[in-house]
Amino acid sequence: MTPDVLSPENPPGQVDLNKIENMFSEISPNYDLLNSVMSLGRHGFWRDCLSRRLLIKNPPGHFLDLATGTGDQLLSIKKFHPKSLLFGLDLAQSMLDLAKEKLQNAINNSAILEPMPTLILGDAIKPKLPAQSFDSITVSFGLRNVKAKKALYESVLNLLVPGARFLVLEVFFDPRSLLAPAHRWYLKKAIPFMAGQLFQSSTEAYEYLADSVLQFPHPERVIDDLLEAGFVRCDYQTYTFGVAAVIWGHKPL
Ligand SMILES: C[S@@+](CC[C@H](N)C(=O)[O-])C[C@H]1O[C@@H](n2cnc3c(N)ncnc32)[C@H](O)[C@@H]1O
Repeated sequence: MTPDVLSPENPPGQVDLNKIENMFSEISPNYDLLNSVMSLGRHGFWRDCLSRRLLIKNPPGHFLDLATGTGDQLLSIKKFHPKSLLFGLDLAQSMLDLAKEKLQNAINNSAILEPMPTLILGDAIKPKLPAQSFDSITVSFGLRNVKAKKALYESVLNLLVPGARFLVLEVFFDPRSLLAPAHRWYLKKAIPFMAGQLFQSSTEAYEYLADSVLQFPHPERVIDDLLEAGFVRCDYQTYTFGVAAVIWGHKPL
């Protein structure tokens, strides 16, 4: 871990791309287990809730998953849209290597159908992909890591076909909730402690992830930003006592 990545001078919103990439490269071997711990085993259910809301304008569906990580959202989408053409983009090669292995195993075991999703190394803000080519674009547990959200929304609007849908899955901390003290303790204390014990590694990356959840705005604020960026017909649905939400908006026709 680069020592200055997570210092108080570098709160999550200020961390640059190289540092984000280094951090995810470091935790990539433990990422899937961490996701299960952080979501109390619910992330698979939340992913399926997002996959059910994908919009297909041109069958069998062209979907792009930004900040795709180890590919779990792509697997979920394939379950609901087996013949769709899928693209997953991420900044960290080590996360994509794990995604490739996981997706190839799923194809070999007939858990999902070919074609294999195309995995692309790159920045979600400057993807080298043709404009107006996707029916839906998704980002799961990744929006809170992107500093330049306005630029990301512009890029998504450029890549979607008119009328197509952008979907975000995120976990949220609601300070007004009755569960807030327990949730804060779980994020700030329990997760870094468990990660340190389970993975025998530095707890800094896990503290960063906890802070990124605590600092991420409420879904209604995210919707305000989407509307301001030019999306229309935006809404959201919460799950598991409001801890997770799927948020969506459409590119105007
Ligand atoms: C918390 S993980 C989420 C991974 C995956 N979407 C999931 O559902 O498990 C965040 C991912 O975002 C990626 N990431 C962060 N900033 C990015 C950017 N600007 N462009 C592309 N990927 C990015 C990281 O490399 C990491 O794999």
